[in-house]
Amino acid sequence: MQLEGKNVLITGAAVRVGRAMAKAVAEAGATLLIHYGSSDSEAKSLQSELNSGGHQSHLFQADLSKPREVSTLIKRAIQLGPLFALVNSAAIFEERNLDTTSLESWQRHLDINLTAPFLLSQAFWFANKATKSESRIVNILDWRALRPGADHLPYTTSKAALAALTQSLAAAMAPQITVNGIAFGAILPPSDGGDSSGLTKKIPAGRWATLEEVGETLVFLLTGPSYITGEIIYLDGGRHLI
Ligand SMILES: NC(=O)c1ccc[n+]([C@@H]2O[C@H](COP(=O)([O-])OP(=O)(O)OC[C@H]3O[C@@H](n4cnc5c(N)ncnc54)[C@H](OP(=O)(O)O)[C@@H]3O)[C@@H](O)[C@H]2O)c1
Repeated sequence: MQLEGKNVLITGAAVRVGRAMAKAVAEAGATLLIHYGSSDSEAKSLQSELNSGGHQSHLFQADLSKPREVSTLIKRAIQLGPLFALVNSAAIFEERNLDTTSLESWQRHLDINLTAPFLLSQAFWFANKATKSESRIVNILDWRALRPGADHLPYTTSKAALAALTQSLAAAMAPQITVNGIAFGAILPPSDGGDSSGLTKKIPAGRWATLEEVGETLVFLLTGPSYITGEIIYLDGGRHLI
């Protein structure tokens, strides 16, 4: 229960990987601030699951493509008390290459995957600066952010910029706020399908990650040494090595 009494906001926490991280953080004792966009019923079911398990949680809806909604999210969250950590997980992932990337898709990826984490981090900084309390930010990245290729072009670019932002913010917010990232490999296949057959052959570990491993890595960055900042941990079974 290393996070007991601490409020942790996770964006995109209602479904899939965000939901698994939310459960792990709640298991570690945190009061969970569940952000969601459109997954209203999943967010409510997560809240009731957590609350019936003896955990505390609160729901926050916001469309992260809208800066005005982003800018009020931290203000709404701190009405419940000081915010210990912000986990930027919400993102979009569209199959676009150089030929098929429209300005609209490019902009949407940057708005949700990069601008929203920046605005949330800045608001978190302003809220916590005055209190001088130690706090943490974790950005959810992708191993491909650090080895960009031709596919998923706006997605990869937005995550690469988020990796750069992770390091800039770590320097700007030290020593009060640590800012780290987790670069995921294969965690869950895309919800809209996509061909993941043969993927394990490309992963030195020879398998997908477990959601327990995802939770453990996040909890480590939320509870481990505060001397770790600006770090990006690969949780990809060694995929970035080959
Ligand atoms: N799955 C993997 O194997 C994998 C691999 C590498 C990296 N990642 C990263 O891990 C994170 C979670 O991945 P995932 O596969 O669970 O993602 P996902 O299934 O695509 O879920 C996306 C999440 O982002 C939220 N979101 C998207 N657009 C939003 C908007 N406009 N406003 C508010 N929320 C919005 C969604 O919330 P609502 O549903 O409530 O709208 C949802 O919770 C992402 O950052 C992703 O890039 C995942």
